[in-house]
Amino acid sequence: MTRNIPQQEQKVLAADTAVNALCNEGLIHSGMKIGLGTGSTAMPAVYALSALLERGAVTDIKAVATSFQTSIECERLGIPVYSMNAAVIGGELDLAIDGADEIDPECRLIKGGGAALLREKIVEYSARLLVIVADETKAVAHIGTGFAVPVEVIGEARVPVMRALEKLGASCVLREGVRKCGPVITDNGNMILDCRWSAPIDPAAMERAINDIPGVVENGLFTRVRPTVFIAHADGTVERRA
Ligand code: 5RP
Repeated sequence: MTRNIPQQEQKVLAADTAVNALCNEGLIHSGMKIGLGTGSTAMPAVYALSALLERGAVTDIKAVATSFQTSIECERLGIPVYSMNAAVIGGELDLAIDGADEIDPECRLIKGGGAALLREKIVEYSARLLVIVADETKAVAHIGTGFAVPVEVIGEARVPVMRALEKLGASCVLREGVRKCGPVITDNGNMILDCRWSAPIDPAAMERAINDIPGVVENGLFTRVRPTVFIAHADGTVERRA
């Protein structure tokens, strides 16, 4: 019988498969420094890591969290969390694991649906290996025309940055809070402009061009690292792209 696994179960399947495969391959190992992502696919990866710790398959993990969501879950699970600046981390990680909003065939990403893009990029560009876990809806032919690219801006620069992004061909919307009046304020105290293009973009050139605008703190295009990606499908299979 053909299986039809719902999206949230696909997320858990991708996360469990990735964490257990990485452990079997020695890429998740005792004593390592690991970056932990944010969102509804990254959380099952944190839970899978916690399960490895609980059964003693790995010990002495040093985690860096990409958001309050992740650091609070790590606190609850007893996973020790450090700053990227802590002496034991030294600004570099062995591995980072996270979800994504869109993944193109070259494994370039849009991230930041959970507004954690700034700390995600700091953590994930500082990791020797980035692993992305996702359900099948995240795999697309082109990034930038479907899911919006989030741009984190300082509040004072909101309108000038929007004008500059329009000159780059984007339509921008200020992200509004849910059960919070007014804009989303990120974990770093900034605002988010969600940007879409009507035609495919050059993701690498656009990542650089957006960050050249004064007042932009970071954007959600991730093109400078080529991650290993685990994509779970509705039929219960998990595809690994490297
Ligand atoms: C948070 C992110 C998430 O990884 C991305 O939004 C995917 O989220 P989810 O796994 O909940 O679909 O970048 O800023």
